[in-house]
Amino acid sequence: PRSIWLSRHGESEFNLDGKIGGDADLSARGQMYARKLPDLVLESVGDSRPLTVWTSTLKRTISTARFLPPTYNQLQWKALDELDSGVCDCLTYAEIKEQFPEDFQARDDDKYNYRYRGGESYRDVVIRLEPIIMELERSENILIVTHQAVLRCIYAYFMQKSQTESPWMNVPLHTLIKLTPRAYGTQEERYDAKI
Ligand code: F6P
Repeated sequence: PRSIWLSRHGESEFNLDGKIGGDADLSARGQMYARKLPDLVLESVGDSRPLTVWTSTLKRTISTARFLPPTYNQLQWKALDELDSGVCDCLTYAEIKEQFPEDFQARDDDKYNYRYRGGESYRDVVIRLEPIIMELERSENILIVTHQAVLRCIYAYFMQKSQTESPWMNVPLHTLIKLTPRAYGTQEERYDAKI
């Protein structure tokens, strides 16, 4: 059966600073994850079949995928870029709370529908992911390296979880998730890079 592999990018400099959005490079730990990812993928694939790798257009996902075997085709999708946080891009949550207190509260009250000023909501992301989901449904063995919010939406789709709850889901860094759709539901395996 075919599977879908999902991973967040390795830890970025912005993750370290608690800043959201942006286009930062990987941190030293993030680099370690990028180096370990090929082995993690081989372990979880179990045979020598090549995967197709989809990343976003942001540096941190492209860097995370860069040590994967050259036999894997790689494709960058703008639709896999992180949820656009608009005027809050590059701020910390503390700075958002201070500069946009009403927005901060509104997001907490309805995280799925809250749209950042000049940016996106989770609902917007789910809509822009439609072509990705359609392509995934008719593809073999794809590895997607993307971002926290995007990964939550894709994961919720395949695991048949509620999209409105997905914004609160915990998706750890440095963990490869393998999803295998089956007749009775999607089977999930996780591989922790232990970084
Ligand atoms: O902090 C990493 C990050 O990917 C941000 O770039 C993004 O805005 C955020 O997570 C999404 O998570 P949440 O919706 O919980 O703020």
